[in-house]
Amino acid sequence: MTEFSNEASARACANIALAKYWGKADVKRNIPAVPSISLTLDQLVTETRVRFDESLKLDVVRLDGRRATESEAARVVTMLDRVRKEARLRLKAHVVSHNHFPTAAGLASSASGFAALAAAASEAAGLRFNARRLSALARASSASAARSIYGGFVELPAGNRGDAELAARPIAAPEHWNLRLIVAATEPGPKKVGSTEGMERSRKTSPYYESWLDSAPKWARKIKRAIKDRDLDTLGAAMEQSTLAFHCCAITSDPPILYWAPATLGALATVRGLREDGVSVWATMDAGPHVKALCGVGDAARVRRALKRTAGVTRTWVAKAGPGVGVSA
Ligand code: DP6
Repeated sequence: MTEFSNEASARACANIALAKYWGKADVKRNIPAVPSISLTLDQLVTETRVRFDESLKLDVVRLDGRRATESEAARVVTMLDRVRKEARLRLKAHVVSHNHFPTAAGLASSASGFAALAAAASEAAGLRFNARRLSALARASSASAARSIYGGFVELPAGNRGDAELAARPIAAPEHWNLRLIVAATEPGPKKVGSTEGMERSRKTSPYYESWLDSAPKWARKIKRAIKDRDLDTLGAAMEQSTLAFHCCAITSDPPILYWAPATLGALATVRGLREDGVSVWATMDAGPHVKALCGVGDAARVRRALKRTAGVTRTWVAKAGPGVGVSA
């Protein structure tokens, strides 16, 4: 039997996509159809402990102090099964995970959650995976999680059907560029459609999906170049196009998926107003109503004040570039 250390913990940070991923080339293997580029954030952290235990008859999954729901547990067990297969291990596991997110953040934790789970489970099973293999393992559960394996600026290329090894790779370390991301949490929007379901609906029904597939790589290339050049105006403009184009696919799906709340538009207007006053600040939104504004460190306090005053914005906080996944015994 493979030698294994039995238990391990991992800590991973969430990330924000500057160039968005929306759409799959292979649903079964979870392969993105477009390249994406992200910034790993400090502040939004998931900590996960995995223990393989011979006394267990079933996997036990606890999230934030409660028993995981059936669908949450199913995704965790799928990841554990991949790890067990690789390690030739039959033992069931005890998984305990905590999200250290600012309260009422209303933000998705699947990126940090699956990155931490991939690292903790493979370590506990005695698999000495390098970052690339960890990233591919995390990607199979949630593509954005592949990016959270690395700190700073990260890219996940588009893949082809069957490309089981597709993984993210780092572009630049957190110290490369001292940016700030101001998160403006808004009042809840319409009931959320999960990103996996939303992407599939867009692929099957949005008349704009093909043109999204055509354009997304162009924005990703621009954003990658702008990161290397530390050119915030170029990065920001392409980042806004990327987010608006993916939301356009979502909105024009059948039935439509509108993630925004009135405060989303309010916060977008605030960001545009600041730009008209000469501040280089740019907005992005994920599969929810919250607005995240990217700016230089010197403008962060002003941007935060303006977003705080925007009607319907319930909370704001400031994040900066964070580290990649860390594992301990
Ligand atoms: C809009 O990574 O949550 O946040 O691979 O189906 O788990 P799955 O999707 P997920 O999608 C994230 C979508 C997004 C954009 C992004 O983070 O790139």
